[in-house]
Amino acid sequence: GKTYRVAAIAGDGIGKEVLPEGMRAVETAAAKFGLEIEFTSFDWASCDYYLQHGQMMPDDWFETLKGFDAIYFGAVGWPATVPDHISLWGSLIKFRREFDQYVNLRPVRLLPGVPCPLANRKPGDIDFFVVRENTEGEYSSVGGRMFAGTEREFVLQEAVFTRHGVDRILKFAFELAEGRPRRKLTAATKSNGISISMPYWDERVEEMAKSHPGVSWDRQHIDILSARFVMQPDRFDVVVASNLFGDILSDLGPACTGTIGMAPSANLNPERRFPSLFEPVHGSAPDIFGKGIANPVAMIWSGAMMLDFLGNGDAAFKAAHDAIIAAIETVLTQGPRTPDIGGTAGTAEVGKAIAAAI
Ligand code: NAD
Ligand code: IPM
Ligand code: MN
Repeated sequence: GKTYRVAAIAGDGIGKEVLPEGMRAVETAAAKFGLEIEFTSFDWASCDYYLQHGQMMPDDWFETLKGFDAIYFGAVGWPATVPDHISLWGSLIKFRREFDQYVNLRPVRLLPGVPCPLANRKPGDIDFFVVRENTEGEYSSVGGRMFAGTEREFVLQEAVFTRHGVDRILKFAFELAEGRPRRKLTAATKSNGISISMPYWDERVEEMAKSHPGVSWDRQHIDILSARFVMQPDRFDVVVASNLFGDILSDLGPACTGTIGMAPSANLNPERRFPSLFEPVHGSAPDIFGKGIANPVAMIWSGAMMLDFLGNGDAAFKAAHDAIIAAIETVLTQGPRTPDIGGTAGTAEVGKAIAAAI
């Protein structure tokens, strides 16, 4: 079969600790199901690289990466030495925008064996997707600062909602909902307070709903929607949101399932014109870096999502994906577990246990 080429980029902090465990799981599953996955590692897109070169990535990063089938990515950011907006806009956000990874797909699922911070919830009760718009919205570079350092100083940053950008994320979300048993979609909005962009967003949701009559949908303002993530997480199936709202919801959702250390994500270019990128939702966690206690499950689960996407329906890839998820569930149930979910084990111990379970 085809050899799939994957760029492995660890980045900073615990990205360097969890990526090897993700690669271990992917390689184990690939060997078991006869898939050819070839990793190529890069040390750029990191703050270490920035400190040496004055930029996050070499000038030819786009040419270098564009021929890969996927990017498997740890985390970026080391705010003690490089301001976050420099490191992130110089790497991850560039990938998302230049490779047109306009879907950020972030599952929220309560897994067995994990203590749930919400009372009386069991696996199966919390099982939904946050579909986050990933290339525009509130994350825009339109704006500026004037009269810097004076009393007249002012700062303006625009949000950008294009019809093309809004419609394509909504279409993806409605189609995802159509393929799920409950066929429900919730659109995050804030059209009561954000009076231009959000009414437009609502209008496009309504229009998209017309061509997906099998989906029962509602819209909720982001404030109460956040509250319901905590109070009634069982009512959600597919939640579609703008870039910023989706960012916030995709830390809140996983927090409701016990830890952000297990939340995976897929930054997709669904048309496959460019490589898609698979990474944990979490960041570089400077507070625990070096202790070897980061939970590797988010990274490993992201690897499963990568195989699923690469396979594009192929049965062996699906089996490899399922085997990784099953192994995660086995290890969460039996241990070892990392401290964020009540265990005492380290990153590599958990990673090896998951690989063994695969
Ligand atoms: P963070 O996600 O790195 O950490 C938040 C908290 O969650 C910390 O207490 C951390 O210890 C804990 N945590 C995160 N991942 C964990 C894991 N796998 N296991 C156990 N505990 C885990 O968020 P932050 O502190 O806001 O950001 C730190 C840096 O990471 C910043 O530079 C930020 O910009 C960057 N960041 C990068 C990404 C990314 O690369 N996708 C995402 C979020 C934040
Ligand atoms: C995420 C992160 C990034 C985002 C940051 C690090 C720029 O929080 O992937 O969720 O806001 O998209
Ligand atoms: Mn985030």
